[in-house]
Parts: sequence; C-alpha cells; structure tokens
Amino acid sequence: MDLFDSLMAEHRLYEQLLEALDQCVGMAEQGPEVPAADLSRFADAIEGFDRLCHQVKEERILLPMLVEIGMSADSGMIAAVRVEHEEERELVQALRKASTAGDVERIASVGFTLTDHARCHIYTEDTLLFPFARSRLSVPSMDKMTAAAAAFDHKMLEAGEYAAVAAIRDDLVARYAARPDCIQSRVSWAGTDD
Ligand SMILES: [Fe+2]
Ligand SMILES: [Fe+2]
Repeated sequence: MDLFDSLMAEHRLYEQLLEALDQCVGMAEQGPEVPAADLSRFADAIEGFDRLCHQVKEERILLPMLVEIGMSADSGMIAAVRVEHEEERELVQALRKASTAGDVERIASVGFTLTDHARCHIYTEDTLLFPFARSRLSVPSMDKMTAAAAAFDHKMLEAGEYAAVAAIRDDLVARYAARPDCIQSRVSWAGTDD
C-alpha cells in the first residue's frame, strides 16, 4: 500500500463520519434531541483527523514532494488544497461555535456546508490530485513519501492519537450513520436519478 492508497482509505473512513454528521445536523434541525456535546465531538473528530492524521500528511509529505518536482507552491492544485484545508478548519470552528451557542439555524447551515465542502475536496483529491501526482512522481519519490507517512503513522499510533480519534469517530458513526433513518435516506438517495 503506497501513500495514495492509504490516503484514499482514510477518505473512506472520513466519509462515514461526514454521513454521521449530516444525520446529526439534520436531527438538530428538526428537534432538541441532539446534544450540543455531540456536535462538539464531531468537531473534535474532524480536527483530530486533520491535525493528527490525514491533512497533516498531505501538507507535510505530499505537497512538499510535489513542489520538489517543480509544481508551484503558490498556485494551481497545491494552493487550492491548502486553501480548502483552511476553509474546512474555519467551518469546523464555526460548527463548534454554533453548537455551543445552540444556534440551530447556524448549525444546519455550517454543518451541511462543511460536509459538502469536505466531500468535494475528497473527490478532487481522489480523481485529480492523486492520479496526477502518481503519474508525475518517480518510484524513489513515491518510496520516500510512503516511508515518511509510515513513520508518521507509527509515531501517532505509539502516542495513542489514532486510537483516540478512531474511538470518537466510531462512536459517532455507530450512533448516527448506523441509524435506520440514516440508512433509509442513503438507500433512497442512491435510488434517485438526480
Ligand atoms: Fe486534503
Ligand atoms: Fe485528503
């Protein structure tokens, strides 16, 4: 498994969390049954995924390697990835703030914007950035990145960071994405033509 395989596997885990967040935000919009603490836990899980796992590997390992082979650091795809990561961080902070304030309208607006934004970002990386990078990077560069990512993963595993983030994510996914009404809406959505 190279760096791109592992980043895409992390995308699939992140998508489960986004599905759970959509469900939680939808429930918050409809009634008082969703505690603000759960929305803050979504913010914790997304921040953990960002700072301790996924985005940090893209920013510290992948993007510098692309700059090394001649891509501009300040424009094009690299700049776009950095901007989107920052936008996502701002949306997570806004979600935390709205949930603390109990502002349901804002929770819904920020929450759904965040999940849309994250899905678009994932789609761009899976279908454009990663295939492009794969086609341009040499085998030694790929090996160097994969080794750097493995060393980073090892450090985070040893420190217990991955287990902590996974525990929050798994709990939220089990409680929201596995709800029958969430599964039902997923099935209905998959069956539509538009
Ligand atoms: Fe990213
Ligand atoms: Fe990513």
